[in-house]
Amino acid sequence: MARIVIIGPPGAGKGTQAKLLAKLHGVPHVSTGDMLREAIAAGTPLGEEARQYMDAGQLLPDDVMIGIVDARLQAPDAARGFILDGFPRTVAQAEALDALLARRGLPLTAVLRFVVPQDDLVRRLAGRRVCKDCGTMFHVDDGGPAAKGRCDRCDGLLYQRADDEEATVRRRMEVFETQTAPLGRYYAGTGILRDVDGSGTRDGVFARVKAALA
Ligand code: AP5
Repeated sequence: MARIVIIGPPGAGKGTQAKLLAKLHGVPHVSTGDMLREAIAAGTPLGEEARQYMDAGQLLPDDVMIGIVDARLQAPDAARGFILDGFPRTVAQAEALDALLARRGLPLTAVLRFVVPQDDLVRRLAGRRVCKDCGTMFHVDDGGPAAKGRCDRCDGLLYQRADDEEATVRRRMEVFETQTAPLGRYYAGTGILRDVDGSGTRDGVFARVKAALA
């Protein structure tokens, strides 16, 4: 059974690869960033709180995020496994995740850590466009839908995420280095941490992801 966490800096391709892995294993893709963006779009109190942190490139409080993930992993579809993208992001979140999975007797099977050169990260984030209706991601360098501004799956409008603005990207990178990178030490020695070279094409990265999990 696949109970996999993906960690890596902003733009590392976590969402892109998580979707592919979720399809491969037939388990849900659980993205805390997507869940927060849905709350913002729905105008809920969580969304109001999330918007302030996200627009500033800062992390939401651990207790809020742990509560959201705990509830999500109790949904019936997650009983078969899950691909967690964007959680945990702090050591406190990692400890809470281990504790809640231990209570269910279902520990993580793998932690994938994506490593990507800084220049690639900046280029990927600056060119990312997302469909407002179905959430599909595109990149302007790929031509096609991103150049036309319309999704080729549902014809929804494509938009640029507010937190992909240059100054916010810099802040998110700093937050990753100070608060999330220490997770590498947390998972070192567990035997389930796998480093994946996240540079190159999406298919090339996915081949390395599958090899890392084999
Ligand atoms: P979140 O949405 O998780 O953002 P992130 O971690 O910064 O990651 P991104 O979504 O920017 O990048 P990604 O690695 O998924 O790359 P992607 O596949 O999209 O979080 C946003 C915010 O929410 C946080 O800043 C925080 O405020 C809050 N939050 C979320 N979780 C939290 C938590 N646990 N605790 C506290 N706060 C939390 O790819 C990027 C682009 O590159 C796309 O255009 C894609 O098409 C393209 N691309 C991908 N792979 C390739 C490739 N191989 N070659 C070329 N292009 C590629």
